[in-house]
Amino acid sequence: MTQRMTLISSPCYVPESKLEKIDSLQNLFPSSQPLSLEIGCGIGDFIVQLAAQKPQQNFVAIDIFNRGCDKTCRRIDEAGLSNVRVLRTEARSLLLRHIKQQSLHAIYINCPDPWPKKRHRKRRLVNAEFLKIALYCLEEGGHFHFSTDFVDYGIEAGKLLTAEPGFSNCHDHPNVHDLGDYPISKYMRRFLERGQPIYYCHYLRRPGYAAEPPPPPKKGFRLRWVKES
Ligand SMILES: C[S@@+](CC[C@H](N)C(=O)[O-])C[C@H]1O[C@@H](n2cnc3c(N)ncnc32)[C@H](O)[C@@H]1O
Repeated sequence: MTQRMTLISSPCYVPESKLEKIDSLQNLFPSSQPLSLEIGCGIGDFIVQLAAQKPQQNFVAIDIFNRGCDKTCRRIDEAGLSNVRVLRTEARSLLLRHIKQQSLHAIYINCPDPWPKKRHRKRRLVNAEFLKIALYCLEEGGHFHFSTDFVDYGIEAGKLLTAEPGFSNCHDHPNVHDLGDYPISKYMRRFLERGQPIYYCHYLRRPGYAAEPPPPPKKGFRLRWVKES
């Protein structure tokens, strides 16, 4: 797919090439604070709310689409937030190549591409293999947040998370509809306004769980973004 590329000049935008030159994503921020990652930030509605809610944390928001990154940066600049950096990159590529073991306080994934057709479901980002990568990168007690409007994806993610011994559930059901003070993303709002419930999962990485270094993911959709290291 060809994207029309917009040059992003915002101070919160980090070109992917810069990652090769830094030792840790923490070096992108003025102060060292717990670091969280939003995957698939879209146009930035969610991260702007979250980063304003939690000024004592740093956030990296990523998306594979340049226009989304541009819009996210504009929102962050307008809101005057200094605790967010935006990168145009692929989630597994970033996690496997640039995020150290147990270095993330939280991972947020909202309304990821649902790939509704049965033959496309293997393209979904959140699967058992992805959860192993997330467990490796999350700190002890680190948070994994997932939300979707897509019933089948919500149920499947809840099952996978419940079956994964490295995670413990913060709720008494694999996924819930009550979002509490969880910020609402653009896609979440769209579906809530149509009266469709959001399937929300909030799990913690179990303290003491020995996460194995994840193998590079098998060939799969969008994995052309994962370069050889
Ligand atoms: C359906 S949109 C949801 C956007 C936003 N999270 C929301 O809820 O409004 C999914 C977003 O995830 C991005 N995306 C899809 N796969 C990705 C991946 N493997 N790594 C990073 N971003 C991805 C897409 O470019 C798109 O912007």
